[in-house]
Amino acid sequence: MTRTYLVTGSASGIGAATADLLAAQGHRVIGVDMHDADIVADLTTHEGRAALVEHARDLSGGTIDAVIANAGLATESTATVAVNYFGALATLDCLRPLLAGSSAPRAVATASMASLFPVDDELVDACLAHDEPAALHRAKELLDEGAGGLIYSSTKRALVRWIRRSAATDEWAGSGIPLNGVAPGIIRTPMTATYTATEESRKAVLDMVPMPLNGIAEAETVAHLIAYLTSVENTHLCGQVVFIDGGSDVVIRGESTW
Ligand SMILES: NC(=O)c1ccc[n+]([C@@H]2O[C@H](COP(=O)([O-])OP(=O)(O)OC[C@H]3O[C@@H](n4cnc5c(N)ncnc54)[C@H](O)[C@@H]3O)[C@@H](O)[C@H]2O)c1
Repeated sequence: MTRTYLVTGSASGIGAATADLLAAQGHRVIGVDMHDADIVADLTTHEGRAALVEHARDLSGGTIDAVIANAGLATESTATVAVNYFGALATLDCLRPLLAGSSAPRAVATASMASLFPVDDELVDACLAHDEPAALHRAKELLDEGAGGLIYSSTKRALVRWIRRSAATDEWAGSGIPLNGVAPGIIRTPMTATYTATEESRKAVLDMVPMPLNGIAEAETVAHLIAYLTSVENTHLCGQVVFIDGGSDVVIRGESTW
């Protein structure tokens, strides 16, 4: 059965690998990115988010089978907050009405194993309160304090907590839409190029993100998991954040999740 998928961050890395895989499986893919995409939109802005919804409605004809909110940044910047959390939520919440016409609607967000790292609680709380001006203001304060390293992990922590809060509600599970996340470890993409370039940098990043199972992964590995989570076959995963991380979650958290 041919399905229509919408993938943000489709021009590079995990998003491009996912779009390629789904297209190779015979599905229709609407790619969204700042460049080289069916819908060119900057998801840090209200205009870009509005353009996403408008063009997604037009290009899909009114029905999308799966939404994959994957676009992201890992820079120490306010833009990282705007795209990783508020851009992802705008993608999922604003496109949810287009899922209503699908016989097997699905939604996935790309989080990160970095959601396990230390965070700034004030930034996480501002995100979860859906207060974008406050979240951007807090990110700016963190940058000024030299604590910009907390921004990325905070956006991903907020995103996974939003998935856990939302997945079982009427809007998602109650409407027959499995909402889940993936939490990759270190994946070889342009985002991590500086970490994966040399033996020395690879060792340094794996000291921080231990991946005892097969080490640094390729983008296609994550694409296959996203393809399953958004497939017709996934009828019962609800609010799961699947760590696809070579074991970093197990090493860091051990048995503590039960
Ligand atoms: N690569 C990793 O190791 C890794 C690990 C954990 C999580 N992730 C997450 O996976 C997702 C994809 O990352 P990737 O590694 O493929 O990176 P990437 O840099 O290769 O691709 C990210 C894509 O998102 C797009 N994007 C960024 N800001 C945007 C915006 N404002 N509006 C629209 N598009 C925008 C970029 O143009 C780019 O094409 C991100 O959410 C990232 O946080 C990556």
